[in-house]
Amino acid sequence: MLFLFFVWFPILISCSSFQLDLSGEWKFSSKNKSITGIGVIPGDIFSDLYRNRIIENPLFGDNHLKFQWVAEDDWTYSREFSIENSNNYSHALLHIGELDTIAVVSINNKTILHSQNQFIEHNVDISKYLRSGINIISIEFSSPTKFATQLADEFEYFNNHELPPVCPPSIYHGDCHPNFIRKAQYSFSWDWGPSFPTVGVPGDIFINFFDLHFFDDFTWTTELIDDFWYVNIEFFSLHYGIETDIRFIVEISDLVKPFSLTYRTDRNLGAHNHKVIGTYKLDIESKKVEKWWPNGMGGQHLYEIRVVSCGKEIRKQIGFKTVELVQSFINPKIPKLGRNFYFKVNNVPIFLKGSNWIPVSMFRNFTSNTNKMEFLLDSAADVGMNILRVWGGGFYESEEFYNYAAEKGILIWQDMMFACALYPTDKNFLTNVRSEIESQVTRLKKHPSILVYAGNNENEAAIRGHWWKVSNYSENQQVRDYVKLYSQIAKIVTKIDSTKPFVMSSPSNGIETEEEGGVSKNPYDVRYGDIHFYNEFVNLWRDDSFVTPRCATEYGIQSFPLRETMLKWINESDWEYTSQTMFHRQHHPGGIAFNLLMIFSHLPIPDQCPSKSLVDLHKCEYLTSNKYMSRLAYFSQIHQATALKTQTFHYRRFRNLTNAEGLGNTMCAMYWQLNDVWAAPTWSTIDFEQQWKMSHYEVRRMFSNLAVYLYIDPADFNLKPVIINDDFSEILNTTMRLQQLSWESGLDPVFSQEYPIERIHPTTAQEVDLSLNAIEYSELSEYLYVVQIYNAQNQILASDVLLPNFLFEINFSTFGKVRIENMRKQNAGLYEILLSTDRISPFTWVSCSKQFSGWFSDNGFHMTGRTKTIELVLKEEMNLSINDFSVCNLRNCYL
Ligand SMILES: *[C@@H]1O[C@H](CO)[C@@H](O)[C@H](O)[C@H]1NC(C)=O
Ligand SMILES: *[C@@H]1O[C@H](CO)[C@@H](O)[C@H](O)[C@H]1NC(C)=O
Ligand SMILES: *[C@@H]1O[C@H](CO)[C@@H](O)[C@H](O)[C@H]1NC(C)=O
Ligand SMILES: *[C@@H]1O[C@H](CO)[C@@H](O)[C@H](O)[C@H]1NC(C)=O
Ligand SMILES: *[C@@H]1O[C@H](CO)[C@@H](O)[C@H](O)[C@H]1NC(C)=O
Ligand SMILES: *[C@@H]1O[C@H](CO)[C@@H](O)[C@H](O)[C@H]1NC(C)=O
Ligand SMILES: *[C@@H]1O[C@H](CO)[C@@H](O)[C@H](O)[C@H]1NC(C)=O
Ligand SMILES: *[C@@H]1O[C@H](CO)[C@@H](O)[C@H](O)[C@H]1NC(C)=O
Ligand SMILES: *[C@@H]1O[C@H](CO)[C@@H](O)[C@H](O)[C@H]1NC(C)=O
Repeated sequence: MLFLFFVWFPILISCSSFQLDLSGEWKFSSKNKSITGIGVIPGDIFSDLYRNRIIENPLFGDNHLKFQWVAEDDWTYSREFSIENSNNYSHALLHIGELDTIAVVSINNKTILHSQNQFIEHNVDISKYLRSGINIISIEFSSPTKFATQLADEFEYFNNHELPPVCPPSIYHGDCHPNFIRKAQYSFSWDWGPSFPTVGVPGDIFINFFDLHFFDDFTWTTELIDDFWYVNIEFFSLHYGIETDIRFIVEISDLVKPFSLTYRTDRNLGAHNHKVIGTYKLDIESKKVEKWWPNGMGGQHLYEIRVVSCGKEIRKQIGFKTVELVQSFINPKIPKLGRNFYFKVNNVPIFLKGSNWIPVSMFRNFTSNTNKMEFLLDSAADVGMNILRVWGGGFYESEEFYNYAAEKGILIWQDMMFACALYPTDKNFLTNVRSEIESQVTRLKKHPSILVYAGNNENEAAIRGHWWKVSNYSENQQVRDYVKLYSQIAKIVTKIDSTKPFVMSSPSNGIETEEEGGVSKNPYDVRYGDIHFYNEFVNLWRDDSFVTPRCATEYGIQSFPLRETMLKWINESDWEYTSQTMFHRQHHPGGIAFNLLMIFSHLPIPDQCPSKSLVDLHKCEYLTSNKYMSRLAYFSQIHQATALKTQTFHYRRFRNLTNAEGLGNTMCAMYWQLNDVWAAPTWSTIDFEQQWKMSHYEVRRMFSNLAVYLYIDPADFNLKPVIINDDFSEILNTTMRLQQLSWESGLDPVFSQEYPIERIHPTTAQEVDLSLNAIEYSELSEYLYVVQIYNAQNQILASDVLLPNFLFEINFSTFGKVRIENMRKQNAGLYEILLSTDRISPFTWVSCSKQFSGWFSDNGFHMTGRTKTIELVLKEEMNLSINDFSVCNLRNCYL
């Protein structure tokens, strides 16, 4: 029953409360106490062992292979805390944000909590276990790897089949059966990361003391109906004793003046997680509200919502946006052409440009992880991303993450944390998962950044793709079990948050998957839903190598971090392609060979190799030696940048365009992967030392709202320029300049032609017809093509360079001598660098000899003009001189 009061109403119960923070130093010990030390909460066992000098830096060299014993032992964390006079308050509630993972918590030797799920927060009434004076809290963690193996054994015993993937490929050097433990799945290893099955308390831990009533938290959803925004608020409180009226004061900055609500509690509402004491639907005239828009599409207006109850005030940010997932037929008369799959935000279609987010670290250091998170989201927003997918093998991210994403205009595709595996569906597992999804979606739904929830990563595709051969477990039974788990998850998610769409998996076919019973015949169908695309056997520098889906949520290619990053984490003598240490960091099956084959399909095999044939690569010792590794890493970044650019533009050029087979109307380009958990060859565009790889500089060009792209149309083997505009406004009176250059003739074009572009349409990709002033495309490697769009003021608005496919055919001596002409310090956070070249300078790379936190405004670019100015933008100020900078290009970088 709800009563509304707009005047002060006396509260009859005592509302004072007191919080005792238990974070900080704790004792830890191994099971038989042979190892003990002082650890830090929040944190994890590997960080604590390292801090106590019991183990070496776990990420250095081959150390990741040495600490299996840590994950196989049981560990206890304990500390004392003192309560002066516990009689001050009648109740004490222990809050633990996260327990990793199989844990028993005791107070004064009495067990108060068993936990088997890292993704659930705990609030436990410990009143009756406390005593005046000194108390002891201890947390015993069981080995996560042993727990998973034991459950897997039991499962097989009772079901007569295994539950794949069982163990990861041996090249991962990982641990088995992550699917049996509700813990971040990547902590048992991935194809881009080592195995560090952590244990510990990674989040906050404190005790709230109170009398009869405690205001815990609140959450909400927003929806727009006709002319009103509705904020559906839920208040969570704990209450003991008799029925009482509890008052809440609610305010939203600039929109809703403070007003009060009163709820009558039940008797003994109890100390359960998130006990709803009341709900309230607040309405706000829509014309008063400034909406929240994704990055590049409008402002990120955020308001503050403030709730006060029982002496406690909680403030959170609130934003207003609507989401709709459009899955109409491409052509209702021909249903077999498939369905659209795109998102409308605030009622306008948004082309999703972004990447995939993995956890920022193998370990749980709150301060450094929050710093990394902010750097990475800054780096995403700065290059024009409007979305990140929080991938299903990591965590439901922190409040800080979603808040910061909202400030940056980054939408979030939120997977549930299930990835590349089949999962148990017994009652215990389902109950465990139910609590997890309920508590996470209740927390997440208020964040304006969240766009869509997805049930899992690639599990639907895994079943249909027969990734694993499992005896005694038919495909039909796999499908039944899959549907049981994810339809339960779907029900919970949509019940808690009906304001955002839910898809069963990524990739999946959206409605088509549901109509096919939850697991579609081909989850990679380009006519439906989203796809993941990986193919290392096609030419990734050619537009016609790619498929044309509605939405690409994963695609990517590996590269190596540059020497400067790698040498922080391996010995210099190990910096060679096939050293044991480097070998152990390459987790991509086949990656060792595929990377070389792909790179040297485009770039020259060094002269030191006796043979210039791809099939002889493995025979060339120089190629894999320490002498060549730094250049090979630079080559790998060239390959990654070019492949990502070509594929991304292939998707973007199908914005608002379908071909004769109904393919196209592509609306997402989300490459794999943004960030790294260690220094290793991976698909990331930002390395573990937070240095942007060449590809991340390319991302700024390929995601720019206004872009131009040159590709070769296989139909007539001629050049096609496409102008892509994601803005809502048209651009008038521009000119397109198309030039053919030759490496031999240098900066003076062989051919140059201007084409007036009267109107660049909004939110569309348009091809420019070259038929009037035909330029013959030459596939000779002697030529490259440059396209620029400029306006009446002669400003270049967009440009692209199409390089020949076979760079190894070019005479590298024809490349320019690029130099730094000048450096100007604007302030200690901003340096301007003037570059010059005498001839064409491909893949120009500027570096700074001092490690910095920040990025250049551009890098990895091709200079086809005499000069170029770039800036170094620093997050942490530094004093630099011109001698700290250097520049090179494809002719001489890392030689
Ligand atoms: C304690 O346990 C470790 C790991 O299981 C073992 O190596 C060590 O020998 C044990 N020490 C004692 C004193 O039992
Ligand atoms: C790195 O080099 C040092 C000194 O030569 C050596 O002690 C250490 O074992 C090496 N580390 C690795 C991971 O190879
Ligand atoms: C309890 O009350 C005593 C006396 O009023 C006070 O000194 C003490 O700080 C209080 N303890 C707590 C935990 O609030
Ligand atoms: C817990 O139990 C141990 C052994 O049973 C005992 O030595 C210790 O004093 C107890 N601790 C507390 C806080 O009661
Ligand atoms: C498959 O089932 C048979 C018969 O129940 C059993 O003997 C066999 O061990 C099972 N296979 C596996 C991999 O569990
Ligand atoms: C956690 O990160 C902070 C900030 O980077 C650093 O000072 C601290 O040493 C780190 N702690 C551990 C245990 O690595
Ligand atoms: C392309 O955009 C135009 C104008 O906004 C619209 O009328 C048309 O339906 C769009 N085509 C597709 C395939 O979305
Ligand atoms: C575009 O050019 C036309 C014809 O020269 C001129 O009338 C018009 O004002 C120009 N528009 C803009 C936006 O520059
Ligand atoms: C490569 O280019 C340089 C500079 O133009 C020229 O001197 C040299 O002869 C060329 N080499 C070959 C093999 O064409």
